[in-house]
Amino acid sequence: MKPQDIVIGKTSLWIFGYGSLVWKPDFKYKRSKVGHIQGYKRRFWHGDNFHRGNDELPGRVVTLMEDDDATTWGVAFEVTGTQVEESLQYLNVREAVRGGYATRAVDFFPEDGQAPVTALVYIATEDNPLYLGPASPEEIGAQIAVCRGETGHNLEYLLRLAQFMRQCCPRVDDPHLFAVEAAALAVVPYLLVAQ
Ligand code: SIN
Repeated sequence: MKPQDIVIGKTSLWIFGYGSLVWKPDFKYKRSKVGHIQGYKRRFWHGDNFHRGNDELPGRVVTLMEDDDATTWGVAFEVTGTQVEESLQYLNVREAVRGGYATRAVDFFPEDGQAPVTALVYIATEDNPLYLGPASPEEIGAQIAVCRGETGHNLEYLLRLAQFMRQCCPRVDDPHLFAVEAAALAVVPYLLVAQ
């Protein structure tokens, strides 16, 4: 199913967040559910020259990479009525114009055991000019520890995402996320000494 097929004429739409949307959707919604999608892994491989970095020091934010064996946990938000158009307009600026993300349709599996629903998700692919690609947790953590943008520090983004996983998905491991978090926190004392 194409993203536009799940949007056109819709009076109800699910939007899946796996990055900053999980703690800061900033749009009106009817309800939200924690759960996962399949076939994608979450990686700090996308560059950010607006929200969490700038042109000189682009931050690193998460995107989804296709991987048949992977699952990614996050939050799906159901928007209804006029919220559909309002949320899409808001997210187009936040995620597409400023973030370089494109939309895809995915199956979302709520943790409450209810039936899966089709959800819209924002994904940045390798052909995006902002894409940075793989690096070691140490390299990614060091970059995140020094970047900030219009929305805040890149470290805040990382720590809030790790906090979400610990609080809302305590039984789910996320080795990439937690390795980057540990690497970034290991750098922080040296940055404070250097100030
Ligand atoms: C985003 O939603 O990707 C940007 C917002 C943020 O960094 O907090």
